[in-house]
Amino acid sequence: MTEWHIRCPDLEAEWAAVEGESLLESAERAGIELLSSCRNGTCRTCMCRLMAGEVRYRIEWPGLSREEKTEGWVLPCVAEAAGEAPLLLALY
Ligand code: FES
Repeated sequence: MTEWHIRCPDLEAEWAAVEGESLLESAERAGIELLSSCRNGTCRTCMCRLMAGEVRYRIEWPGLSREEKTEGWVLPCVAEAAGEAPLLLALY
């Protein structure tokens, strides 16, 4: 099973995500609390910035503009780790 290492210096936290698990679900499984509300990619409460690594989305149109995506903003409730590299998340 593929596993990704995720680090969030703002929370002084590190955890692992497995295939098919959202970033939010993996954090919760590790006992790490990220902000969330709708959990379906619309409210933007969980919005974080991906400083390194890659994600793919469970839904076709996550609530982010193209510009926000380009700037690295992600929605952890519907984003899953992808690619080869570890992920680095920032809360702001
Ligand atoms: S919790 Fe609403 S967009 Fe992620």
